[in-house]
Amino acid sequence: MTDLIPGNGYSDGDVDTNNTGGETLWDIAEARHSRRSVMRGGLAASSAAFLGGAMLSGCTDDVLGGGSDGGKTVAVNQEIAVSTGQSVELTASSAGQWAQVEGPEVELITEEDGRISFIAPAVSNVTTLVFSLLNGIARVLVSPAKLSFRAVDKNRDDIVTVPQGYSVTVMTRLGDPIAANVADYKNDGTDTDFDKRIGDHGDALHFFGMSQTGKRNENSSKRGLMVQNHENLNVQYLHPNGPTNVGSGPRPEAEAVKEIDAHGVSITEYKSERRAGWNWVKDSAFNRRITPNTPMQFNGPVKGSDFLKTTFSTDGTQGRGTINNCANGHTEWGTALTCEENWAGYFKRSGDDALRSARELTSLRRYGVTGGSGNYAWSSVTPANPSDTRFRRWDARASEGLTATQDYRNEPNQMGWVVEIDPYDPTSKPRKRTALGRMGHEGAWLGKLEAGRKVAVYMGDDARREYFYKFVSTATWEARDAMADNRLAIGDKYLDSGTLYVAKFNADGTGSWLPLVYGQVPNRAAVGNDPEYVFQNQQDILVNARLAADALGATPMDRPEWTACNPRTGEIYLTLTNNSSSGRPLNGTDAANPRHYVSQPGNSYGNANGHIIRIREGGDNQAATSFIWDIYLFGADSAEAGSDVNISGLDASNDFSSPDGLWFSRTQNPAGHLRPLLWIQTDDGAFTDQTNNQMLAALPGFVGDGGSRTITNVGTGGATAMQTTQAGTNATPGTLKRFLTGPLECEITGVDTTPDGRTLFVGIQHPGENGSADAPSSHWPQSQSGTNSGRPRSAVVAITRNDGGIVGL
Ligand code: FEO
Ligand code: CA
Ligand code: CA
Repeated sequence: MTDLIPGNGYSDGDVDTNNTGGETLWDIAEARHSRRSVMRGGLAASSAAFLGGAMLSGCTDDVLGGGSDGGKTVAVNQEIAVSTGQSVELTASSAGQWAQVEGPEVELITEEDGRISFIAPAVSNVTTLVFSLLNGIARVLVSPAKLSFRAVDKNRDDIVTVPQGYSVTVMTRLGDPIAANVADYKNDGTDTDFDKRIGDHGDALHFFGMSQTGKRNENSSKRGLMVQNHENLNVQYLHPNGPTNVGSGPRPEAEAVKEIDAHGVSITEYKSERRAGWNWVKDSAFNRRITPNTPMQFNGPVKGSDFLKTTFSTDGTQGRGTINNCANGHTEWGTALTCEENWAGYFKRSGDDALRSARELTSLRRYGVTGGSGNYAWSSVTPANPSDTRFRRWDARASEGLTATQDYRNEPNQMGWVVEIDPYDPTSKPRKRTALGRMGHEGAWLGKLEAGRKVAVYMGDDARREYFYKFVSTATWEARDAMADNRLAIGDKYLDSGTLYVAKFNADGTGSWLPLVYGQVPNRAAVGNDPEYVFQNQQDILVNARLAADALGATPMDRPEWTACNPRTGEIYLTLTNNSSSGRPLNGTDAANPRHYVSQPGNSYGNANGHIIRIREGGDNQAATSFIWDIYLFGADSAEAGSDVNISGLDASNDFSSPDGLWFSRTQNPAGHLRPLLWIQTDDGAFTDQTNNQMLAALPGFVGDGGSRTITNVGTGGATAMQTTQAGTNATPGTLKRFLTGPLECEITGVDTTPDGRTLFVGIQHPGENGSADAPSSHWPQSQSGTNSGRPRSAVVAITRNDGGIVGL
């Protein structure tokens, strides 16, 4: 909706922020929306009676239209054919109320303009719905879910492109103020107060529904809290002329404050004031910024251990903030999970080896805490207040004569965790869940919850040759906990006690989960200069989960990113974004990471385009210790790649590279039923000569729907090697289709819908990441409305379908 886009009449201060007054248009709309119009009076069995003598006039899918938004309409004495997820308007020329008399029950929606419509339900075969009005009927033939939109072409335009019939609304952007009395963002590098503004590099997101009275409401599609991670910075755009001495310092204090505060998590109230009309509330009482300085508490087995003791937390129970929040997760009890990914790079550490034990050095090297100055050199600031430790903390060197509670040597142990946040309580203290292990956490996604079974959380550790983990709770799931008010206490119950496992994939399509349990993990063998590592206790194993997974012989993967749980089957999908020849040479392939080839541009060898693996747990129980697997999809450039690379048979309408974000539609609407809709987002550098990063919609099958496949890999100098793998069935334009492309130099990351599936939220991260303050290489989001100037900003977009149907179907 272009009327909300900056430069076209909307400014931040225009947002209606007063929720305390009388009934608003939005209140009326929600009340109408929630009123069920269905009347079922035992008529279903007698719908034939309504046929009377009237002939039904047939309408085909193609000739529908008639609605003011191009949607599908049907009137008395008509019949139409639609597919799952489409919006159908029941039109009437006379007064009266429609009632459904046959077929799977649907909710009749009274739209804001008074029209009556419904969303076609999920069906497995063509199914007839019959509706009556006065003495006539209308018939609607619903066919199973399909990707009904026309694929977006690959392109390098500086806008978000969506299919015909869809609209884009730019929502919260880098720097937008989310507190009263904070000025609009000037976007010229002079803005301050980033602890009250939307952070940079918006990443994963989730919409938490909220009622009109400000209570949690999982089914609200009109009002909610958008929780988004802020992973990193396009630092060149944050200051008037770019950053000062960003390589190794000394850094000006004001610049460092701004950069630190632009990291973390934002919580912003979103609301829809009319159909397809989204906005956000600048001074909502629920708005919150969580930054690298926000107080947190440690929970779980590592809480209070020596590993976590710092100057800030001398008893090892308290934490200070979160950093490099990449992907996420959410729980059925209404909390957000945020994950600390590339945290190690922010620390200055090199030069203190002589003051470190061999065990400490093995751990620090395994996690990459080796930097000479740390990202952005924050520790080089000399603060105006000498007791201000917000900068010094990023210097993790041990100091001679001091202990761990007198310097910042253990500060890196405070990062690398999954953090649970209660978005509905702005005063709540986030909790770091140490039972889930310490690594480069991409995300933390719950499997399918079933009463009486344990809760599983699936987690990728995103770096080359790292592993795929799952946590299984000690407690079994009780459905009543989903609606408890003490949400973080419910988190304590399921996330503080349990078993952490790491995955081992076997060549024959089976796999096992190896427990990271003290006493069952052998010593980690010596590697290079690092001697054998002897685990001392369970806390040691959780802090050094990578070392424990090494010792157990877990399968190193091609950069494990997001996971997603198919809500129908419980199968778990995992993106493996890419790998290089240095990460995995020609003879380093295995069945789960099977490809090695050359790709353009750059003549690079390895698995430049990535793949998506999926598993089915033994007994369909997510506490199982064994599974079967196959590779659902292989990324490829369809024009360039031969059949040993383009294994999934991609074509120009669905070829992609470097899958990262991955998400199945919600079960609250038909997109999550029967054959759930899957969304795939890319973070790519190998296909960007062809297209900007993209997002695809898919209707996947299941583990084992393909078969064994042997491919010929190619390395430098023409060397070849054979590799057998388990491949899923080929993609087709009906099962995989490009839905969206982003602006220049962006990554597409972050995806959710409203519970009704009629609005899709997507994160557009770091547009113009290679430009400079003088010469921005993107002007998005200004460019979305035709203004090709100004500095680029990461932002969330809300995408709606003009006819009101479920996005993607
Ligand atoms: Fe921050 Fe692995 O993506
Ligand atoms: Ca990611
Ligand atoms: Ca990525």
